[in-house]
Amino acid sequence: MMKKSKQLLFALTFILFSFHPSFGQSPYSLPPLPYAFNALEPYIDAETMQIHHGKHHQAYVTNLNKALQNSETTSVSLEDLLKQISKYPEAVRNNAGGHYNHSLFWRILTPGGNTQLSERFKRALDQQFGGIDSLKMRMNEAALKRFGSGWVWLSIGKNNQLFISSTPNQDNPFMDVVEEKGLPILGMDVWEHAYYLKYQNRRADYLSAIWNVINWNEVSLQYEKNVPKGKFDDWPALLAFHKVMSQTFHPSEEGNLEPLKQRSHELAEKAKALQTNPIPPAFNRSEIIETIKQLSKDSKKLDQLVKMNNRMPF
Ligand SMILES: [Fe+2]
Repeated sequence: MMKKSKQLLFALTFILFSFHPSFGQSPYSLPPLPYAFNALEPYIDAETMQIHHGKHHQAYVTNLNKALQNSETTSVSLEDLLKQISKYPEAVRNNAGGHYNHSLFWRILTPGGNTQLSERFKRALDQQFGGIDSLKMRMNEAALKRFGSGWVWLSIGKNNQLFISSTPNQDNPFMDVVEEKGLPILGMDVWEHAYYLKYQNRRADYLSAIWNVINWNEVSLQYEKNVPKGKFDDWPALLAFHKVMSQTFHPSEEGNLEPLKQRSHELAEKAKALQTNPIPPAFNRSEIIETIKQLSKDSKKLDQLVKMNNRMPF
């Protein structure tokens, strides 16, 4: 009797488990390409895209599912898996990385490219890399230096600062095994399978071409989604004034008056813009309005004094 009830319990558990959506399914699957194979022509050819997505990426997914077949990892998200990848065998590291990296890669490419950067993201690129062109140059340098196969990343790191890094094979900044950890928002595949059919060994040519199909809108969205807004981020006129003020006043505090002499007019213009542009509701108070008015007046006066002084023959 006891044996029969045990068998019944086992059978019931099996039936219930088999109704679970993940039963018998592989936990990871190949995401569809968000555009046609030939949509990135002439920069990335259709045949490369077809093989890259349908064969290489598919192989990472298939092999990841195979490598995890006998583990209890089915309910862990890919991101969580990567964050503790040191606990898994090399096959999981390579294939989980391959799946994550390529899924991001397809999203940050788009036919014809686009340049829709948010103001905040653009400002971060200006401040941290000296602008988008300089960022591209530095990422290309890192990609050319990557020996063998790997990736180059733009990621959000500590204190929400952006950084460029490069990882070998299918590693990425999410993994606990890499030196520079962060959240990747732009990834460049520098495996030969990404470019060899069209560019053969000319990695530099592939790197300069790929910037024509970057989906900056998506990269920028990821930045906005993952970096909390600063107190003054909705007040670009204040940030613009502060930037010029810090570049002119800080040197003058150390005895170098040249930046102030050369940019007093710019400083006065930024103060005027601060006064005339809308103030965000959180700061729209009479004492702040009054202070800005005074600041604009004083900056104008300072500019006049500097100009007068510059005309002096000594
Ligand atoms: Fe690849």
